[in-house]
Amino acid sequence: MKTDIVVIGAGAAGLMAAIAAGRRGRRVLVLDHADKAGAKILISGGGRCNFTNTGCVPERFLSGNRHFARSALARYTPADFLALVQKHRIAWHEKTLGQLFCDNSARDIVSMLVGEAEAAGTTIRLRTRVGEVSRPDRFRIDTDAGPVEAEALVVATGGLSIPRMGATGLAFRIAERFGVPVAPTRPGLVPLTFAEPEAARLRALAGVSLDTEAAIGRVRFREASLFTHRGLSGPAILQISSYWDGVGPVELDLLPGRDAREVLRSRRRGRGKAALATILGELLPQRLAQDIAGGIVAEAGPAAMGPVGGLPDRVLDRVAASLNGWSLRPSGTEGYAKAEVMVGGIDTRALSSQTMAARSVPGLFFVGEAVDVTGWLGGYNFQWAWSSGWAAGQAA
Ligand code: FDA
Repeated sequence: MKTDIVVIGAGAAGLMAAIAAGRRGRRVLVLDHADKAGAKILISGGGRCNFTNTGCVPERFLSGNRHFARSALARYTPADFLALVQKHRIAWHEKTLGQLFCDNSARDIVSMLVGEAEAAGTTIRLRTRVGEVSRPDRFRIDTDAGPVEAEALVVATGGLSIPRMGATGLAFRIAERFGVPVAPTRPGLVPLTFAEPEAARLRALAGVSLDTEAAIGRVRFREASLFTHRGLSGPAILQISSYWDGVGPVELDLLPGRDAREVLRSRRRGRGKAALATILGELLPQRLAQDIAGGIVAEAGPAAMGPVGGLPDRVLDRVAASLNGWSLRPSGTEGYAKAEVMVGGIDTRALSSQTMAARSVPGLFFVGEAVDVTGWLGGYNFQWAWSSGWAAGQAA
């Protein structure tokens, strides 16, 4: 079979590339080994798909080249995707931090994309295994339904996260085959795990959730953190996990926006008879307050159990430091099985930022999460999928 363009991957980026190319009159065949299109869209945003973010600026993406995403994001913007959503009369709402969600179901987004792709004349072939990819003169893609030849190949097979949903490293296999470099990959937007004895301490707090600021160096996220049986999760932790180098500490501010030293000293002045645990219980969830107070008693001795009025500055400052800057050293992450995204991927230096085309291989394009561009939590990753898919679909 011959066609103009083969897109491998009927996910967010692949469908958008197919729509854009199909609308230009190109014959497009989309191949996917899954039994349904857009499987990750369906489970995204708790089933409601956080499909974009109104604050989508390039600074909110991780990449070896922090300018790479700029062009595609500017050419197909959150407003462009929202216009498509509105054209299909899909009800949506804005949650916090510019995050846009469907009112009803992520299924609305998949139906919209599949409908648009079909209206643009593209063919989506599911349950199709992709084998060898070669390029004698045109691209030849071997599949279990026979070979397909195409002038252009758009690789939209996503990242490595959630392998049980069909994630594979096909993009990297194709990259290697054509000499396109790949930046090292790791799980992103993923819960952090800890070794003993820290793990036992965090386990005892499982279920506690609070407003925090999680930081690594100058990168900081003010959102909720959640203690779990395996370590730490919640939006602040997922966000910072993408920046974690696998070695260093993560700082957790349990009283974000407030100077704990001042808060504690003022309470000591006004409420000198109260116990430290009581004061902390007014600032933090009870179990966490008990845990921190217990830690201080273990460190400073039984005097720390008495009225806070009797505590010396040294002890109070020690408590304040652990409130404003609890330094935790993760031992790892929950890995691709739990990661929302993959950090790293096809090296952006090998791609045109305008078209997503591989510089050294005419007609070969990489889009979406397979590329070394990873967004923050909150709709950024889908916007990258739409924008990069659109860019390739205009050029392929
Ligand atoms: P995507 O993974 O969507 O699609 C890749 C396609 O390629 C799949 O259909 C797959 O079957 C196919 N494929 C892979 N290997 C293949 C092979 N060897 N042969 C044939 N086909 C192959 N982002 C966001 O912005 N808002 C959100 O609300 C969420 N929520 C969310 C929840 C969960 C649980 C996860 C895991 C992820 C999110 N994300 C998210 C991230 C978002 O889902 C992700 O960034 C995009 O789906 C990436 O789009 P792609 O099209 O690049 O890959």
